[in-house]
Amino acid sequence: MVKPNKNNEVFDLDQLSSWRSLFPIVRQVTYLNHAAVAPMSIRVKDAMDSFLQDLMTSGVDQIEASLQRREDLRIMVADLIGAPATGIAFVKNTSAALNNLAQGLTWRTGDRILMVAGEFPSNIYPFTNLKKHGVEIDILPTRNGVFSSQDLERAITTRTRLVTVSFVQFHNGFKTNLEALGTICRSKDVWLSVDSIQGCGVVPLEAKDWGIDFLANGGHKWLMSPAGIGIQYVGEELLEEMEVATLSWLSVKNAWDFDTSRIDLLDDARRFEYATENFIGIYGMHAALSLLLEVGIGNIYRHVTFLIDRLVQGLTTSGCKIISSMEPDHRSGILAFSMRSEDATRKVFDSLKSRRFIVSLRNGNIRVAPHFYNSMDEVEGFLDAVTESSGL
Ligand SMILES: Cc1ncc(COP(=O)(O)O)c(C=O)c1O
Repeated sequence: MVKPNKNNEVFDLDQLSSWRSLFPIVRQVTYLNHAAVAPMSIRVKDAMDSFLQDLMTSGVDQIEASLQRREDLRIMVADLIGAPATGIAFVKNTSAALNNLAQGLTWRTGDRILMVAGEFPSNIYPFTNLKKHGVEIDILPTRNGVFSSQDLERAITTRTRLVTVSFVQFHNGFKTNLEALGTICRSKDVWLSVDSIQGCGVVPLEAKDWGIDFLANGGHKWLMSPAGIGIQYVGEELLEEMEVATLSWLSVKNAWDFDTSRIDLLDDARRFEYATENFIGIYGMHAALSLLLEVGIGNIYRHVTFLIDRLVQGLTTSGCKIISSMEPDHRSGILAFSMRSEDATRKVFDSLKSRRFIVSLRNGNIRVAPHFYNSMDEVEGFLDAVTESSGL
C-alpha cells in the first residue's frame, strides 16, 4: 500500500491525498506543529462522536463496549511501543505517569536521579519534588543541546538509582540513543525512565528490547489523540518494585466485590489506572493509533525525514542556521532553526504565522514538526514563506 513515487517520496501521492482528506485543517493552514498539539482527524472525531451517541442512548450499558475498546487499544499500544500489553496502563498525561514513578519508588536519603539539562518541566518537577526525601538531582550539561549515552554513563554514580530522559528533546529534536542507554543502565543496575511524547508516533521505538524500564507519553502530540489520555509503560522488573502511590478502587482484582478488608492488586500495570476511565479519550486514541499503525511508524519516520531533508536544504540555502542535530542517530520529527539574530527569528516567526504557517518558537528558535499527512508542496510553500519573511 505504501509505495514510493517517481520523486522518491515515501508515499504514493494518491494515498497521501486520501490521508490528507482526513485532516480538515489542511484547508485552513499549513500545520507543522505536531510537537505542540496535533490537529484532530475526522476519524478521531467520529470515534468520539459515536461514543457520545452510545452513551446518550445507553448510559451504563455502554460500559462493556468501552472496556473492550480499552483492551483493544492496549494491544495497539503494545505494538506501537514494542512492549507487552501487561506493562501498559492508561493515564491522563505524561506528568501523571512520571509522578506515578517518582512517588512509586522507595527513596533513601542520598539516592540520586540523573537527568539532562534542558528537559521539558514535566520530566523535571516530579523528581525535584523528591528533594524533600533527601534525593539528589544530577543534571548532565549538554554541548549546545547535544549529548551521548556515554556522557550519561560517566555521570552515573554508585548512588544513582534512576536516569530519566526524553526520547526526543522538545526544543531541538535531539533523539537520545535509548538502545545504548538501556544497555548502560542495565549494566549499572539503574532504572531507565523515558518521556517519549516527542518521539513516539513518528520515530520507531522498541521499549522492551532497548531495556526501557518506564515510559510516559501523553497522547495529544505525535499520537494525534485528544488531550487527557496518555500511556504509561512499566517493565516487568520495575513492576515488582514499584508501588501504586495513588491507589484506586479499580486497582484491585475483585473491585466489584466491594470487599475492602484486603488489598489484592491487579497483577499487571492496570493497577496504576486511576479509577473511572476517560473513555472518550480511549475512543479517540484508539482511532488515532489505528491510523498511525495503518500508515506504519517506519513509513512515517521515512516520510518525515524526507520532508525535513528538503527543509534543511532550503533553509540552509536561504541563510538560516540549523539548530537540530542532523546526525542520523539523533534525528527526529522536529527541526529547529534560527535566523541571524533572535529578533530576526521572532520577526520571521510572526510573519509565518500571519501567512498561516503554524510552527512554534522554542528557546528562541523556530521549531518545525511535520507529520505523515504533510506534503512536499506544503514544505515548498513554507520555504518560500521563510524566504519572503526574512527579506521583510
Ligand atoms: C518532552 C515533553 N514532555 C511532556 C510534555 C507535556 O506533558 P503533559 O503530557 O504532562 O502535559 C511536553 C509538551 O507539552 C513535552 O515536550
